[in-house]
Amino acid sequence: MDLFSATPPRSIDTLTPEEAAQRIEALIREITDYDYRYYVLAQPIIPDSEYDRLVAELRALEERFPELRRPDSPTQRVGGTVTKEFPVVVHRRPMLSLDNAYSIEELYDFEQRLKRLLPDKDWLYIAQHKIDGVAVSLHYEKGLFVQGVTRGDGVQGDDITPNLRTVRGIPLRLRGTFPAEIEVRGEVYMLRADFEQLNREREEIGEPLFMNPRNATAGSLKLQDSTEVARRGLRFFAYFAEAKGLPDSDAQVMQQLREWGFPVVETFGPAPLPEVVQVIQAWAERRHGLPYDIDGIVVKVDSRALRETFGTTNKAPRWAIAYKYPPEQAITELRAITYQVGRTGFITPVAELKPVRLSGTIVKRASLYNYDEIARLNLHLPEVVVVEKSGEIIPKVVRVLPERRPTDAKPVIPPTTCPECGTPLVQPEGEVGYYCPNYKHCPPQVIGRLEHFVSRKAMNIQSLGEKILKKLYQKGLVRRFSDLYRLKPEDLIGVEGFAEKMPVKIVQNIQASKEVPYPRVLYALGIRHVGEAVAEKLAEAFPTVEALKAAAEDEIASVYTIGETIARSVRAYLDDPENWEEIERLKAVGLQFSIQKAEKKRSGPLAGKRLLVTGTFPGISREEIIAYIEAHGGTYASGVSKNLDYLVVGEEAGPTKVEKAQKLGIKQISLAELEALVGAPIR
Ligand code: IVH
Repeated sequence: MDLFSATPPRSIDTLTPEEAAQRIEALIREITDYDYRYYVLAQPIIPDSEYDRLVAELRALEERFPELRRPDSPTQRVGGTVTKEFPVVVHRRPMLSLDNAYSIEELYDFEQRLKRLLPDKDWLYIAQHKIDGVAVSLHYEKGLFVQGVTRGDGVQGDDITPNLRTVRGIPLRLRGTFPAEIEVRGEVYMLRADFEQLNREREEIGEPLFMNPRNATAGSLKLQDSTEVARRGLRFFAYFAEAKGLPDSDAQVMQQLREWGFPVVETFGPAPLPEVVQVIQAWAERRHGLPYDIDGIVVKVDSRALRETFGTTNKAPRWAIAYKYPPEQAITELRAITYQVGRTGFITPVAELKPVRLSGTIVKRASLYNYDEIARLNLHLPEVVVVEKSGEIIPKVVRVLPERRPTDAKPVIPPTTCPECGTPLVQPEGEVGYYCPNYKHCPPQVIGRLEHFVSRKAMNIQSLGEKILKKLYQKGLVRRFSDLYRLKPEDLIGVEGFAEKMPVKIVQNIQASKEVPYPRVLYALGIRHVGEAVAEKLAEAFPTVEALKAAAEDEIASVYTIGETIARSVRAYLDDPENWEEIERLKAVGLQFSIQKAEKKRSGPLAGKRLLVTGTFPGISREEIIAYIEAHGGTYASGVSKNLDYLVVGEEAGPTKVEKAQKLGIKQISLAELEALVGAPIR
């Protein structure tokens, strides 16, 4: 298939700048066309590998001829821009919100209001999915995407152009013919599957989870590093355009948007209101089968001239309304209430329900948040309850049905002692929650701390998840951090569910963590208020743990950005003899408790070099490579940045890291090349 001038590429080095420019033009057109087929028509026509090859060729050309790099190049989608603060932009016309209708009746009321304004006229409507995402306004000049702004307060928003360039589906250059200036508005959103994947990744690294795809989208668009935004898999749907020469029918404008290359929100009509109502009813069920969330249907007058006549209030247009689906509810039995102890000791009551279908999933449990909620609902046991799922992923109990309560039902009295360790619970002043104060010995709290200790940003001990830690705890094998370093493969063999080589691997991973530098060890201890950044600061100011222990509270507090709360917490931690004994034990097994020790090691062939590893290496764990790098004086970097010296690339390497490294001109080497640099084999 010869869509464009697909002349077979000659070796880049023999191309003249003119030839390179032509080839770049052809590649951009070809790749943009594949994007269009994928994101707008949903009909991909080439395999991913072929697509990747074209992008790689384009990237190579742009690296060789940086002056030919164009803003509409698909290579711009991987990000690479770090913004300090987003510039604020005033919208050329305000971005209004919509009035809501919560019943079909209210939709007919809406039509009546319009009829009173124009009694002698008839008109039609279009109906569109109301996408539950984040509204943005995009500006195109001469067909090029030049600026993208958030809705903000409706009058002014943030200029997040670099982030929006990474959003698949937002065309960087329009197709066909177009007016010189166009504004397109629409919704950035996330597929439910991408949202769930993102949360799984966050759970793994102990980052707080997003409530729903909309929150995840909003959070992603605010990120200052567009490379990270690119990884979030955001998508776009257009629902509005303003430009010279557009047709009067908005349905036709949507068609025009599609031809320019935008994915357009699902649109029905133009049609009279009763037909629109049928569509709304049809989508009430069908919407659960969509790969993204919609929270209603937007009904709009189709004629743009009539819209002008109807005008707007200062909040919303008179010519449109958002029909909101009622949150789905189900009635079921409350069978029991369990009380979960979190890693901070917070007690969360959880409703255990008779399984029931709700919004396409089976619900067995619902969060009751805290003790106040039990009182508010006046919960008894057993009880018949109404559960609801709105935007949130976790269902909640909205009310009870007292008329269906058995006569012998008893009011729920939440426990006053910890369900896990029996310690009397405490309620800190001014808080609605109860806590178990036995943070040292209450099992879920201890296991929670162990999980934090092994997590990626702390000691980075892989393959040691919550389940295994729980079993090791229950068997009495691991109660403290230092117990981990005494584990032998045979201790782990008894723990169920292990693949053959796993116990050996885990023990290796644990031992390799002894190389983790002091600031991260400090972070791993899980001292309250000591996050990664604070740990860095502390280690910088007090380069040994002894120096930190000897420091007075105000001395700690005086370190830039530390402050009193943190200082008090650090002091209290170190003053507890049990904690200090544990630090001594960890020191004895070889963990890093001083900066000097780590620095002394920084002599050797890799001294002063920053390296990062990506991909897998048959038979050699990543930890082993990191330990090897650090043992020869190198520093292991946390990500690809321009300060990186080498990216060590293995099999199935992550494309994002490799792409970014390529873009920044960072040297990529194999494991064999690394060994050559060091001058000694890894084993
Ligand atoms: S029209 C002046 N159409 O809903 C017209 N909005 O509640 C205003 N939304 O801020 C917008 N899907 O973020 C329109 N098909 C759609 C929409 C849509 C989602 C959002 C939009 C708006 C909010 C208002």
